Amino acid sequence: MKKQILRIFREAGEEFVSGQSLCKHLGVTRQAVWKNIGQLKEYGYEIESVSNKGYRLVAKPDKLYGPELESYLEPESFCKRIECYDCIDSTNLRAKQLAETGEPEGTLVVADEQTAGRGRRGRGWASEPGVGIWMSMVLRPALEPVHVPGLTLIAALAVNRSIREICGVDSRIKWPNDIILDGKKICGILTEMSSEVNYVHYAVTGIGINANTMHFPEEITATATSIYQQNGKRVDRAALIGRFANVFGAYYERYVTDGDLGAFVEEYDQMLANRDQQVKIYHGMVEDADPSEIETGIARGIDKTGALLVEMDGHCEAVVSGEVSVRGIYGYV
Ligand code: BTN
Repeated sequence: MKKQILRIFREAGEEFVSGQSLCKHLGVTRQAVWKNIGQLKEYGYEIESVSNKGYRLVAKPDKLYGPELESYLEPESFCKRIECYDCIDSTNLRAKQLAETGEPEGTLVVADEQTAGRGRRGRGWASEPGVGIWMSMVLRPALEPVHVPGLTLIAALAVNRSIREICGVDSRIKWPNDIILDGKKICGILTEMSSEVNYVHYAVTGIGINANTMHFPEEITATATSIYQQNGKRVDRAALIGRFANVFGAYYERYVTDGDLGAFVEEYDQMLANRDQQVKIYHGMVEDADPSEIETGIARGIDKTGALLVEMDGHCEAVVSGEVSVRGIYGYV
């Protein structure tokens, strides 16, 4: 019931909502409404109550709260359930555990803090409490395993669109799966799967967004930033998570139906950070690359398999994600 109450308050904005109309909408007694409002207040929601007018939401805590996250889900949303933790080792690990034990697809695991956040290529992912968005979606795509990396591109599109809409910033996608703002990374995506040769048991797409982060570990300050550091406005993390869950669900269902990214190529290319710019393609590790492992070319966009089309010496080469890293000529982008 708390998620409905929070949704009604949000839709009412500055207006009061009478106790009577809450009872009517929720089909419950005044005592039940009163009890739930009391529990919301205990959690940190500031709710004003005035006799003959009713209730209104004045302020909310800067904590992630499952019922509030679920209050953003559209009735037909692919995402049906959100599991919210104050602290967990890794939301990807938890989503994989859920998938192993039969959880249906569309469950989103969210945590305020991760103690063992996982990045790509075995790296860690700094996930301090109270400032970021650390979340993972359980998926059971009816796709060949070869199409699973496309989920990462779909997630990048959905998260980039949600960030732009909720935060009003000009974020872009760095192929295949980073979101950047002013040349630095604000979001990374890690898709993991369990599969047989031609059957996917499940996939988990994990997303880390540096929303209100103020400090980064020394070794990544040159390449990492947060939305707050760039625009000076605190991100409403619940609103951003809710928007992402709705947008991602719609994109995911389309991708699984089509079996390719054809419907997304135009939007992806428009949002591609280094489109029509020179890029370096690293076939080995970026850190200590041998010059023979680096190629340069001009990034033109993606094809419907999700490969990056790079123009080199007059021909276009399709660069496949997972095999390479892409950098700008002068820096990260
Ligand atoms: C990257 O290396 O760029 C990918 C980072 C992915 C981090 C997210 S945070 C939520 C989810 N849980 C994890 O342990 N990792 C992903």
